[in-house]
Amino acid sequence: MCGIIGFAGREEAAPILLDGLERMEYRGYDSAGIAVRGEARGLQIRKTKGRLQALADLTHGGADLEGTLGIGHTRWATHGEPNEVNAHPHVSENGRVALVHNGIIENYLEIKEHLQKLGVAFASDTDSEVVAQLLEYHYNECGNMMEAVGRCLRRIEGSYALGILCADYPDTLIAARKDSPLILGCGEHGSFIASDVTAIIKHTRDVIYMDDGEIAVVTPNGVSVFDDELVPVEKAHSQVDWDVSAAEKGGHAHFMFKEILEQPEAIRRTLSPRLKEGRVVLEGLDLTAEDVRRISRIFIIACGSAYHVGVVSKYNWEKLLRRPVEVVLASEFRYCDPLVDENTLVMVISQSGETLDTMAAMREAKRLGGRTLAVVNVVGSSIAREADHVLYTWAGPEIAVATTKAYSTQLALMNLVGLYLADLLGTVSGEEYRAIVAAAEALPGQLEQVLGHMEELQYAASRYFNHSSIFFIGRNLDYAVGLEGSLKLKEISYIHSEAYASGELKHGTISLIEPGTLVVALGMYGPLFDKAMSNVVEVQARGAEVLAVTTESRLEKMGKTAGLTAAVPDTHPVFQPSLGVVPLQLFAYFVALQRGCDIDKPRNLAKSVTVE
Ligand code: AGP
Repeated sequence: MCGIIGFAGREEAAPILLDGLERMEYRGYDSAGIAVRGEARGLQIRKTKGRLQALADLTHGGADLEGTLGIGHTRWATHGEPNEVNAHPHVSENGRVALVHNGIIENYLEIKEHLQKLGVAFASDTDSEVVAQLLEYHYNECGNMMEAVGRCLRRIEGSYALGILCADYPDTLIAARKDSPLILGCGEHGSFIASDVTAIIKHTRDVIYMDDGEIAVVTPNGVSVFDDELVPVEKAHSQVDWDVSAAEKGGHAHFMFKEILEQPEAIRRTLSPRLKEGRVVLEGLDLTAEDVRRISRIFIIACGSAYHVGVVSKYNWEKLLRRPVEVVLASEFRYCDPLVDENTLVMVISQSGETLDTMAAMREAKRLGGRTLAVVNVVGSSIAREADHVLYTWAGPEIAVATTKAYSTQLALMNLVGLYLADLLGTVSGEEYRAIVAAAEALPGQLEQVLGHMEELQYAASRYFNHSSIFFIGRNLDYAVGLEGSLKLKEISYIHSEAYASGELKHGTISLIEPGTLVVALGMYGPLFDKAMSNVVEVQARGAEVLAVTTESRLEKMGKTAGLTAAVPDTHPVFQPSLGVVPLQLFAYFVALQRGCDIDKPRNLAKSVTVE
């Protein structure tokens, strides 16, 4: 995610802004910038692509900018390549309004077109700049910046945390938030806004957490908060008791746990801009119905967890599209002389967008004439740039090596793409289409429900963290989810684990089951639930202990057989894996925690594998 800091005080702002941005580097970014309002020089803007050090070098540690009022930003690109022009702060055309933004403005294109018709010239490709230009438009209209902010916020749709400076207001910073966190800080030498505590904990522990729809006026003497009707709001102050290193993880022990908890928000950010009035809208995917009808086969190529997304998608897509879908490990694809031609769609899934095996496989697919569509989390990454089409997951930067929120957003987005293509092919009924869209819209809330029940997984982890081998079994979509659960456990706890199609057990693997072996049995896929139950009995007969993951409607029945159970809400089969994977992520996390492993940086692993 982007990082925001703002300061209105009695000290030079620039060094404070740079220091705050540095303390938010862990959030991940690809460009940065600051804006300072000085008595003599007015609004001064400095922006650089790449690391913060470049910005510090450019401004001589901030010494080049004079003024005690300013805003700063580290950008994680969502709309527009990572470069200086697209970096924040964005400035309105007449140079009087500067703004930093974290979030996604969903209706930015229509607003941009409207303002362009009025003659406004835009400098960047970002959604955020639209807010700066719209603010100037309303400010010119009403002459009062607070009123202009109110009008602007009523017009934009989407998520935002905003820091706003206006050249005409010498000591006032305005902030606003909706669905993107923003805090206010009240310090001895001035007042602050920040995306999180990390940025300002050095200066103050006295903070106010803004709520959605609120607008704040920040001055050297303090902060005032208003609702979206500009009515004053009384806000409680909180005293932060975190140490600085903990603050970087939002108060959690590990980034992985923080990112597991971020999944509802990451899914919401990824799906909601693509669900409009009950329809899947994939802006930028210029595939016509004719293009889709010409597709004779589909490959999904990826590595690791991204490959597991492909396995789930194979089951879902073949049902939706009635076309053959082949999921191939990228490292195998490039050497298996794949049957790709101009009628082949090749889906390329990658969180980092830099995985060499996946990049090389995609280049092979393109060389053979295939059409490539990438699902990537990093804007402007190599795979994103080279694919014929790209759709971004907006999970925000994922710091933990073991992926969770990126996997989940890939899974959910692949479901939307599958539904979109099936609709173009006419292979999905209106009723089914509506049911799947409804399941997508319900997913963030259901994920929050799942995350509210961790005790079963914590208990299971406390019982089995010393096991040397753990099996995951399931059928169909449950098998696909088991693959991811097994990898998560292996990656961060170093316990050997295997995921097996339950029906395969009797063909060999069951010989490994002995008294006390833990088997994680997945029983969420309704049509095969009874068989899942039989497999539980089958392994128990050999002495296995079973942790079953099922749905709420099947919990009572499964609970009569399995030793331990965890349940997730029932949803459409297409989205059931999106819920079922979370207990497995949590189980892996708690096991690794019990074992004292380096959860965020597991041994031998890298976040992005850019070598063969
Ligand atoms: C997942 O937890 C692992 N870190 C790893 O398997 C990862 O999914 C794989 O290396 C692919 O990375 P990518 O999504 O960045 O291409």
